[in-house]
Amino acid sequence: MPLPIDIVILAAGKGSRMNSDRPKVLHELAGRSLLQHALNTSRTLDPAKICVIYGHGGDAVPRAVAQAEVQMVLQEPQLGTGHAVRQAMPYLNADHVTLVLYGDVPLIRAETLLSLLQMALPGNVALLTMVMNEPKGYGRIVRKNGKVMSIVEEKDATPDERAIHEVNTGIMAVPNQYLSAWLAALKNDNSQGEYYLTDIIALAVGQGVEIATVQPAHHWEVLGVNSKSQLAHLERLYQHEQAQNLLEQGVTLIDPKRIDVRGELSCGRDVQIDVNCVFEGHVVLGNGVRVGANCVLREVAVAAGTRIEPFSLLEQAEIGADCRIGPYARIRPGTRLADEVHIGNFVELKNSQVGYNSKINHLSYVGDATVGAKVNIGAGTITCNYDGANKHRTVIEDEAFIGSNTQLVAPVTVGKGATIGAGSTITKDTPSGELSLSRARQITIAGWKRPVKKTRE
Ligand code: UD1
Ligand code: CA
Repeated sequence: MPLPIDIVILAAGKGSRMNSDRPKVLHELAGRSLLQHALNTSRTLDPAKICVIYGHGGDAVPRAVAQAEVQMVLQEPQLGTGHAVRQAMPYLNADHVTLVLYGDVPLIRAETLLSLLQMALPGNVALLTMVMNEPKGYGRIVRKNGKVMSIVEEKDATPDERAIHEVNTGIMAVPNQYLSAWLAALKNDNSQGEYYLTDIIALAVGQGVEIATVQPAHHWEVLGVNSKSQLAHLERLYQHEQAQNLLEQGVTLIDPKRIDVRGELSCGRDVQIDVNCVFEGHVVLGNGVRVGANCVLREVAVAAGTRIEPFSLLEQAEIGADCRIGPYARIRPGTRLADEVHIGNFVELKNSQVGYNSKINHLSYVGDATVGAKVNIGAGTITCNYDGANKHRTVIEDEAFIGSNTQLVAPVTVGKGATIGAGSTITKDTPSGELSLSRARQITIAGWKRPVKKTRE
């Protein structure tokens, strides 16, 4: 049964310390914006509503989100976190619980949020708090006889309150039945002249509502991004987690510190990944796949037993089983390789299908081509697929042999089992089983002498 929750993501802050023209929440961690991380985690909780409160950066934030089910709400001017949540009230359901998240806190885990929500559901306010050695800058959790009484912001705290090590992470779950009245009752008579969301805690306590607290399992879950340095730090923390997950699943990482996963990487058994590889979007590696050093794979599926040698770049492609790719191969979007295909060094493939056990081993460009099974394409072969205005297809049927340094001027078909002599420019279809070539005849000029330099007398 879905929890009756609404989610409000605060994302109106400017982020001046990023020193950037981009709104802070649009900076990327592991290839996705900070805000997108918060949204993705939010969705896993199956909320009735997601509201994003935005402010700085004009319509850059709503344009970046552009998802129908997300309600974008402008907060202008920005008068504090309490004022920010208040902007969302018209969109929230009175019977639900609101979960408040921050657009600049990307690593919060759904499990942590679920345990927080469970504490809120009996009608409590639930706060995510953390004990920190260095609580500087955070709101402090003030307790009496163990019960939470209020949150005091550092700038408003007495020396005794500043000595408290339990801090407010900012993330909380509040039943909507109380929320609008409490937000309406907030005052801004504090050191920052803001409407603090944190002041609803004292209001709740005054009304006899219980304040439950929950701690995150990992401290990094609640770290926020305020500077490029913190962004880089969180990126490393995130990548460390990804690498640990892969190791636990049985993937061999030659160095878990030198892998970057910017999306979802799913691996079969006995996959091995060498250093400095980058995986973007959805990447699937089948059983026994080995990826050499310095490869980039973007939206790629690789079937079992295939080896990708170092320095290869593959994007939006499907690679069959037991293939050999690279080193230095470039596989561009729309490419599909059947099983046992060999693609060698300095070979570029684009929008091409290559059949079972075909080989393109050296220095070739194959674009917009349909290549059959057991075809051998010699070094330096080029499909001339573009006439300056239109793209044309090249078809190479099963068991054809293309001699080195051939140009295939599309549209053109090389028949089944045909052979093309090296150095040919093929402009017409070539018949099956026959040798075709277009080559000036070799001649010898007998007795020809090389010019010689004049020597001084
Ligand atoms: C807030 C909490 C503090 C907590 C800390 C955790 C309040 C008053 N204080 O302080 O107790 O320890 O977070 O990081 O809530 N935002 C808006 N609109 C606004 C103001 C802020 O959307 O008018 C957003 C910001 O973009 C940011 C978040 O709310 O994502 C927190 O705002 P920030 O100003 O950083 O609050 P802190 O002073 O850090
Ligand atoms: Ca902050």
